[in-house]
Amino acid sequence: MEKSNGQRVILFPLPLQGCINPMIQLAMILHSRGFSITVIHTRFNAPKPTSHPLFTFLEIPDGLSEAETRTHDVTLLLTRLNRSCESPFRDCLTKMLHSETEEDEKQRISCLIHDAQWIFTQPLAQSFNLPRVVLSTYKVSFFHGHFILPQLRRERLLSLQDSEQDDPVEEFPPLRKKDIPPILDEETELLDSYSDKILETTKTSSGLIFVSSCEELDQDSLRQARQDFKVPIYAIGPSHINFPAMSSSLFTPDETCIQWLDKQEDKSVIYLSFGSLANMSRSELIEIAWGLSNSDQPFLLVVRVGSVKDTEWIETIPEELMEKIKEKGKIVKWAPQQEVLKHRATGGFLTHNGWNSTVESVCEGVPMICLPFVWDQLLNARFVSDVWMVGIHLEGRIERNVIERAVRRLLLEPEGEVIRERMKHLMENVRRSVRQNGSAYRSLEHLVDRISSF
Ligand code: UDX
Repeated sequence: MEKSNGQRVILFPLPLQGCINPMIQLAMILHSRGFSITVIHTRFNAPKPTSHPLFTFLEIPDGLSEAETRTHDVTLLLTRLNRSCESPFRDCLTKMLHSETEEDEKQRISCLIHDAQWIFTQPLAQSFNLPRVVLSTYKVSFFHGHFILPQLRRERLLSLQDSEQDDPVEEFPPLRKKDIPPILDEETELLDSYSDKILETTKTSSGLIFVSSCEELDQDSLRQARQDFKVPIYAIGPSHINFPAMSSSLFTPDETCIQWLDKQEDKSVIYLSFGSLANMSRSELIEIAWGLSNSDQPFLLVVRVGSVKDTEWIETIPEELMEKIKEKGKIVKWAPQQEVLKHRATGGFLTHNGWNSTVESVCEGVPMICLPFVWDQLLNARFVSDVWMVGIHLEGRIERNVIERAVRRLLLEPEGEVIRERMKHLMENVRRSVRQNGSAYRSLEHLVDRISSF
């Protein structure tokens, strides 16, 4: 770390794995630039302070019952959290800003950086005269475009004729009309006022950070976002290249994956993981496991505990299939994903296209098979398959023969070679952006200057 610059930054991540990782990466970057770090976090999904002994962690109560933490409706969870955390967050901030220990007197609190989906922070920060910067974990094009979703839902797009399924959504490219219903799956009117509030919170902030985006991945959307939000925007690139996210994992990664990968041939393994939130049915798990087994390629399958509806883990996989899986596959509850993607044996990633997973795959040059479930994943998947053309889209077909075919096309056929070559170019461009004088590197310098100036 550089010598302390006498400034402290307060970070307030959303308590979801896909949001904690990028925020902690940003904390590590700022710490390496001399800032002291305080992370305010909920009791639910609390990060492990022992993994970051140089940061100060302050826990606030979140009011969630055990049952509420298990809901699959993320919008509902987030609106509840926003309601119940406002007052504890205010108390915590008041205490911090008014504490007068000698240590604090030597340090100035520069700003609050919070996830875009915390929507109560604006009047609070204003009342303390504290500059506030918003962080989005989404792809720029999704964050910029998603404010139109309530309107799309109202207008039409939930009941489609067969003939229009593949038509483009003019207002939100490169989505196709058939992508809209899964994006809005389970979303209700709750979303409308929540989106409005996110927009207002962003437009009144002192800046907007995209942690895992850069000009190379998001040029057009960045230009439009700069026009529309009218606040400084920092696209600081996939920072996990320099600071691995593993230390902020809420689950324990099964390290035996790596020894298993060591025994496989180069680029022969298909890795499958659906991130920290997506759920599947028992029959979907069985179709996936058959598809992978029938492809005859080695595979590493992550099944998160509780991610298969109405079961604990993989106990519903029939014995005959388990025998087949043992021949070529390995199943774990959570993988050290970035290490897996880096491994020479990994040849493809069957992914739900969460933005972190998508960028991690791009950074390691691993082509994808896209199986998005909800929300931003649908847009990310379209970029992978239709715009960058570095993956094969399953178009939602969770069927064993479709999966088997996609794995073989990607790993064994000439089409896979072409996709791999394109992915290599994309990887090189994105990696260049975080190197000295690359676009993300410069953006990070501007961000550091801005925070120092508060
Ligand atoms: C969700 C959204 O889908 C995502 O786009 C948004 O930006 C944040 O919320 P999630 O579904 O968890 O996130 O997916 P993703 O964004 O891919 O993040 C998952 C993270 O967990 C990645 O950093 C990945 O490396 C890590 N992971 C996943 C593991 O370390 N091990 C695993 O086995 C699976």
